[in-house]
Amino acid sequence: MAIFKKDKPDHAGFYTAVPSPTVSENEMTVVKMGGKKIILTRWQGQLVAFDHACPHAAADLSQGELHRGKVICPDHEYKFDVGNGRILYPPDENYCLKRYPVKEEGGHVKVKIAKM
Ligand code: FES
Repeated sequence: MAIFKKDKPDHAGFYTAVPSPTVSENEMTVVKMGGKKIILTRWQGQLVAFDHACPHAAADLSQGELHRGKVICPDHEYKFDVGNGRILYPPDENYCLKRYPVKEEGGHVKVKIAKM
């Protein structure tokens, strides 16, 4: 897994993350930008960007597994749907992935990060 680092957003707050072909289905591309570590992937044609920190206890989800649109945390094995961010396991918990607005423009993936 390659790790990319970008530091400057455009006027709308979008950071140019990586060239579009860098992000594939069922693979995590990790980008550091705007003081955050963000995971990019695709699922069923949808481009997705979410924070690396697990919403349960902040483990690094980039160290977990991504399989068929589901990311599994390396610490307690909670499972999340990357398509909508919702938790799948355990079913009685209510955590949700922190997702970011993401788009493709000019052959690049761009992610919007609110100012800190
Ligand atoms: S830190 Fe991710 S499931 Fe506990």
